Amino acid sequence: MSNNTTTRLFTFAGSATGEWLVDRIDCLVGAPIAPAGRLAVHAGPLLEIAQDVSWSLQGITSNDRYVERSEKVALAKRQAGMGRPECTRAALIPIRKSAAWWALTQDERRAIFEAQSQHIAIGMKYLPAVARRLHHCRDLGHGEPFDFLTWFDFAPSDEAAFDDLLQALRTSPEWAYVDREIDIRLEREAN
Ligand code: HEM
Repeated sequence: MSNNTTTRLFTFAGSATGEWLVDRIDCLVGAPIAPAGRLAVHAGPLLEIAQDVSWSLQGITSNDRYVERSEKVALAKRQAGMGRPECTRAALIPIRKSAAWWALTQDERRAIFEAQSQHIAIGMKYLPAVARRLHHCRDLGHGEPFDFLTWFDFAPSDEAAFDDLLQALRTSPEWAYVDREIDIRLEREAN
C-alpha cells in the first residue's frame, strides 16, 4: 500500500484501550453496534491496532463531492483542524444512506444536500467550535457496514451546540435517506 493511501485510511476501533473513553452509544436508526469501553483512532489499517478490539470501522478521506467554490472558500476561512487541546469531547457518527440515495444522480443529491437541506449553511454556523473529518467507506470494497464515518471534536462547553446542529440536520430532507446511524460520544483527558 502506498504512503498516500495509508495516510488517507483511518481505522476506528471499539476496544478496551484507546485514547477516547466512550460516554454513550446511541443507535438512532438501523442495527446497533456492540458496546465498547474505549475508542482507538488510528491512521492506517487495523493490523497495527492493539488486541481487545470488539469492532472496527474503516474509512478514507477523499475529495469533496458537493461543495461549490464559494462554499469551499468560506469553509476554509472558518474551519479548524481536529485535535485542539481544549477539544476533549468527540463524536464518531457512522452513517449509511439508502439505495434510493445512491440511485440518484450527482445533481439530484446536491439539490437535496444543500438547496433543500442547507447542510453546509447550517454546519457553517458551528465553525470553528466543531472540527470535523469526513471518511468515505463505500469505495473500500470490503462490504463496509456504513457509507460514511463522520468524526468531530469540540470543547465540553460546545456539546450542547453540537446537539442543536444534529437536531437541525436530522430533521432535514437529506436525513430521510439515512437508514443507519449510530451516535458514539467520547471524552478524553485534557493534554
Ligand atoms: C460541523 C459542521 C458541519 C459542516 C461545516 C459540514 C459540512 C459538510 C460538507 C461541506 C460536506 C460535503 C463534502 C463534499 O462536498 O463531499 C459534508 C458532508 C457530509 N456531512 Fe457534514 N458538516 C457538518 C456537520 C455534520 C454532522 C454533525 C454530520 C452527521 C451527523 C454530518 C454528516 C455528513 C455526511 C454523512 C456527509 C456526506 C454526505 C454525502 O456525501 O452524501 N455533517 N458536510
